[in-house]
Amino acid sequence: MLITFEGIDGCGKTTQLKLVAEMLESRGFKVHSLREPGGTDVSEAIREILLSSKSKLNDITELLLFESARSNLVESIIKPALAKGDYVLCDRFFDSTTAYQGYGRQIDLNVIQNCNEIATGGLKPNLTFYLRLSLQESKKRAGSREKDRIEKAGDNFFLRVIKGFDEIAANEPERVKIIDASGGIDETKIEIFKHISI
Ligand code: TYD
Repeated sequence: MLITFEGIDGCGKTTQLKLVAEMLESRGFKVHSLREPGGTDVSEAIREILLSSKSKLNDITELLLFESARSNLVESIIKPALAKGDYVLCDRFFDSTTAYQGYGRQIDLNVIQNCNEIATGGLKPNLTFYLRLSLQESKKRAGSREKDRIEKAGDNFFLRVIKGFDEIAANEPERVKIIDASGGIDETKIEIFKHISI
């Protein structure tokens, strides 16, 4: 079972992923907690390039680096884990590429879809939690901490990213559950746990 967590910065997906992992582990399931980009040595190295403010990347280079990191993670960790019947929880997956590179950078959505297919070999999450947060709230939570290269993209970019996640969720309501992430950790957790039937 592959469960992914999506949303803009500050939505709390990393915290919620941890809570779901703890719950599943406490019930005796084997759980792999991963993040994108990352999760393997190669993908973590690509992550460094992608997030470094020193990297001068055009939009297609950026897209292909995210997909390269994804392909490496899918083939070396995710698929073998799923084949064993383990749970895989992933902090971001291809919906982030659709939202950030598709809606945010405005790369043709058909191109994005094809690249996502190539990188995942057609693998789709069984369940995706989209932790919905307004841009205003995201900025409030970010405070004054230093921004990475992508976070420096500006308000209009992030408004398009939010629209992207909203449309993804509207198009695939069976897979993508919208979770109101504006409340506290426990409120969000309760909403998420309602969707996990084990
Ligand atoms: P992440 O580690 O989730 O950052 P944060 O915890 O601050 O949300 O993700 C790294 C950044 O990469 C984040 O700004 C979103 C971006 N990203 C994309 O633009 N496209 C993608 O396909 C993925 C997976 C992430």
